[in-house]
Amino acid sequence: MLALPRSPAYNSAMTNAIQTARLSATDWREDAFDLMRGVAAYTASPLMKGLADVLARHPDADLGNAFNHKQVGCKMWARDALCETLGGDFGRIVILGGWYGILAGILFDDPRFSIGAIDSYDIDPSVASVAETLNRGWKERFSAMTADMYALDYRALGADLVINTSCEHIADLRAWLSLLPEGSRVLLQSNDYFSEPTHINCVPSLDAFVAQAGLADLRFSGSLRMKKYTRFMLIGTV
Ligand SMILES: C[S@@+](CC[C@H](N)C(=O)[O-])C[C@H]1O[C@@H](n2cnc3c(N)ncnc32)[C@H](O)[C@@H]1O
Repeated sequence: MLALPRSPAYNSAMTNAIQTARLSATDWREDAFDLMRGVAAYTASPLMKGLADVLARHPDADLGNAFNHKQVGCKMWARDALCETLGGDFGRIVILGGWYGILAGILFDDPRFSIGAIDSYDIDPSVASVAETLNRGWKERFSAMTADMYALDYRALGADLVINTSCEHIADLRAWLSLLPEGSRVLLQSNDYFSEPTHINCVPSLDAFVAQAGLADLRFSGSLRMKKYTRFMLIGTV
């Protein structure tokens, strides 16, 4: 195809458009940070303060995805079902595939819970520092570490609850569950969102998730319908 020379006016307009787009991205982040600082001050919530700090310190974190209303809805569902099923007192909770530590923050932020410590493990080395920033309000009781959940010594971790809301992201749920000491209490979430490329192990239904996990004792099972997919949750014992 013949490349036609662009006029100086065209080139200048393009340069301006690119510069404006760059400036808008910066302005957007600054605006979001100012807004979150205001929300944090108004609500006096350490979690909102943590979100503001993440915006300021980790501009590349995919926060809009991790803290969108569907992600938050699934985690609030987990929090409420956990409180109703097992109560709110835990010595040590271990979260696998913990990502930016949002579920940990939501649990710490809820006065119904009394939690000694939450340890969050994720195989992605870029997420631990974001999770630590988000949970700075509870920094003595929170730690985020980089690890493959298949390579941990669960007996040594001494958790009284193991949470994995990333079951759709791991290849073999039963193989992972077999690493936990018998009698471990677990909260698991998966979904039927097959079209998302990072979901390598979705299940088509709640019954399929119950069968896949094969828990020894099932205390809670439920579905949460979202617009594009359904999320499934189990609480029980291995
Ligand atoms: C997209 S995130 C979380 C999704 C889930 N819906 C949630 O909000 O909890 C899935 C996380 O699982 C992590 N992950 C995947 N395989 C893992 C493994 N073998 N060990 C630890 N983390 C893993 C990924 O790095 C990612 O941060």
